[in-house]
Amino acid sequence: MPAALYPLPFFASLLAAALTDVGYCQPNTPEYPASAPAEHSHEYPLKSGVSIPLVGMGVGNLAHKDIPRAVRDQLASGVRLIDTARKSNNERMIADAIAEFDALRSQGGEDDDDPDPIHVVTKVWYTHLGYDRTKLSAADSLGELQLPAGSARRIYVHLLLHWPRCNDEISWMHCEEEENELPQQVKDAGPAPHLDKDSAFKESWRALEDIFLERDELMRTGKPFIASIGVSNFSIEDMRRVLENARISPHIYQGDSWLVFHDPDLSGLLAEHQIFFQAYSVFGRIWKRRDKTPRAYEILSNITREVTSAIYPENADVLEKRAVITEATVLLAFFVHYDVGVIPRSSSPTHQLENSPAVVASVDLHLTPSHCEQLLRAISALMEGEDLKAVKVSFVNALYTAIQVHWIDPNTKEEMLVSSIIHPGSSGIQNSHPGHRFVAYDPDRLIRREFVVDAKYGEEQIFNVEL
Ligand SMILES: NC(=O)c1ccc[n+]([C@@H]2O[C@H](COP(=O)([O-])OP(=O)(O)OC[C@H]3O[C@@H](n4cnc5c(N)ncnc54)[C@H](OP(=O)(O)O)[C@@H]3O)[C@@H](O)[C@H]2O)c1
Repeated sequence: MPAALYPLPFFASLLAAALTDVGYCQPNTPEYPASAPAEHSHEYPLKSGVSIPLVGMGVGNLAHKDIPRAVRDQLASGVRLIDTARKSNNERMIADAIAEFDALRSQGGEDDDDPDPIHVVTKVWYTHLGYDRTKLSAADSLGELQLPAGSARRIYVHLLLHWPRCNDEISWMHCEEEENELPQQVKDAGPAPHLDKDSAFKESWRALEDIFLERDELMRTGKPFIASIGVSNFSIEDMRRVLENARISPHIYQGDSWLVFHDPDLSGLLAEHQIFFQAYSVFGRIWKRRDKTPRAYEILSNITREVTSAIYPENADVLEKRAVITEATVLLAFFVHYDVGVIPRSSSPTHQLENSPAVVASVDLHLTPSHCEQLLRAISALMEGEDLKAVKVSFVNALYTAIQVHWIDPNTKEEMLVSSIIHPGSSGIQNSHPGHRFVAYDPDRLIRREFVVDAKYGEEQIFNVEL
């Protein structure tokens, strides 16, 4: 079902392109076993020639004390992409944690001659915009992300411009103060970018292009491989300015998950130039509002239950694994389904498991067209903080006798009375949810009629109770 059928501008052309290419929520792929999370690469082929994992982990704003353990644990659970930024001042910690992970494996006899590369997305802060300042920032990042000599592991660096400019109108940006606090070496490298807001980022892009073109040479000097270059938080106008003069167009765009749903023009431009969208704030934007949108959250919960049952058959002895797939996993799987990358941040080992690539991939492979249609509505509502309108169900009594209606609890199958007496010829109205079941009885319980709500949220449905 094309996204355009919906009244919401979400996903717009980005999704439209994805729908045409890969079909809409492909059903379960049979070659993956139904009894365990599927091993699936779930990668996106960047225009740079490198494929990037769709599911990663974010450590950009993770407390430094949590980073070594989070990186080691998540590498062990299959994560191969780590998001950070120069501003976060943790690139060295990430490289150390990767080296430690490999050392521990080696001690445990798990040596690998050709281990998977670890992708690290890092970003140039806005104080370092301009050609020479950007080159300096990139050199610092590459230096800190270097693994010990002799390591068989390779780090693939994706180098992004974090912001197009410093903007004093954004409350936490302090352009003048941040400039004043820079080390002299940075100030000497190039002019203050906040005094040249329209061109400094263009010069930075020229620097990233040069770095990308020189990547083989850099690697010969022992630096990590530059796998791609990109931007973050650029408006559509700034994107157009970059694209206008680019020798190499950005390979990655990192942006707020909000944009995926609310900026169809930007999504369209990215799709047109085959620029990979990597979304941050999936949980920040969507998850935190779930208490305000119980109907939308219930959709997510129902789909979580259905997908879990599809992956783990009833008789499977995997109860502890069931706990791994949660509403959060389904949320991530939905983005990934449309080739939008995710980089969730978590300091909780349980959440890290729920967000792990194999678990997200297994859920993605079990999403059906109906799930995707419902998720589009539910996630939009969660994001807006405005709940879906109930389904208005009318029971019209066309019998010769009075009736009463009961709701069937989907979990316990218990029947709970929800209507007063509905006399012949009259009707009773009930707010309900898609998929809910009701049963109508006459007072002597000689007549039993069962109904399933198949209308969508915001729609109405009439049930005739008749012989
Ligand atoms: N380019 C940019 O300008 C930009 C802007 C913002 C963020 N980022 C980057 O994006 C990455 C992700 O950070 P984010 O700010 O977008 O955070 P996020 O992943 O949207 O949200 C993190 C929050 O979600 C919770 N969470 C994580 N997994 C969960 C799960 N399975 N169930 C329930 N709650 C869960 C975490 O709590 P627990 O710790 O308890 O799990 C934490 O409170 C970071 O690397 C960050 O630096 C980039």
